[in-house]
Amino acid sequence: MAKFTVIGGDASSVLAKNIARKLKAPYIKTEKKVFPDGESKIAIKQIPKKSIVIVVQSTYPPVDSNLLELLSIVSKVQKFSSKVYAVIPYMGYARQDKEFLGGEIITIGVIGRLLKGVGVKKVLTVDIHSRLALKELKISSENVSAMEVLVKHFQKMRIKDPLVVSPDLGGQERAKKFADLLKTDFITLKKHRDRRTGKVNILSGKVDVKDRDLILVDDMISTGGSIVKATKFLKKQKCKRVFVACTHALLVNNATKRIKNAGVSKIISTNTIPGEAAKVDVSKVISDALR
Ligand code: R5P
Repeated sequence: MAKFTVIGGDASSVLAKNIARKLKAPYIKTEKKVFPDGESKIAIKQIPKKSIVIVVQSTYPPVDSNLLELLSIVSKVQKFSSKVYAVIPYMGYARQDKEFLGGEIITIGVIGRLLKGVGVKKVLTVDIHSRLALKELKISSENVSAMEVLVKHFQKMRIKDPLVVSPDLGGQERAKKFADLLKTDFITLKKHRDRRTGKVNILSGKVDVKDRDLILVDDMISTGGSIVKATKFLKKQKCKRVFVACTHALLVNNATKRIKNAGVSKIISTNTIPGEAAKVDVSKVISDALR
């Protein structure tokens, strides 16, 4: 009997199939119908046999709807298995990991309680925004890094003597890992985000990037605001090309166009979120962690 059964939610069906293949596990499809009033109806197309059931669903936009689908699938399959794991490759709400302004809710904590409530025994995620977010889930969890597979992709691009740049202090550890694997050096910029307006500014002074090709490494790109500001700042300091490596490419509100217009040559992301930039498959990283 197979140890695992993999179920793919609507947001992550391709990635889920890749994971099932790597684990040599049966794959179960789900079906999602959306009614005219916006409610969705979810169905699993087969009952899982006794095994560890892995439900794979990223919570990118529509965030709440994808989250509800994940919760619904888990609440159904926990009737057939005592061990249901949620693989959430892109974990939405992870940036809401503390009370930045008085009265704000730590929503990632609410999600942890919801996951626990429907019967999730363990959460596996990829490059979650912060350690704090993982801690706030307050559920057995593991975060895996996509830096190794991203670096492998960049090695094939044969960029000569690149410098890795973290756009902010929060991403420094990830960028260091990326630079170490690529056997090159890295720098970190100082970024400030206005918590009320969301506007981003780079506070760094002069940095030594002249005539170097750069790789900006971040966990996620949402509106592209951080990458646009960083790229403009670095271009002013006479760097050569700017590439972007990120795990989760949400790329909302015309972000791709604005990032390209700022002077970025290429955006490479993983397939935690499907899309044009998603060139790097994380199914091996996830299945290795599950085995
Ligand atoms: C922030 O700390 C994150 O690591 C990302 O840099 C940020 O969330 C990206 O958002 P945006 O693309 O909207 O600037």
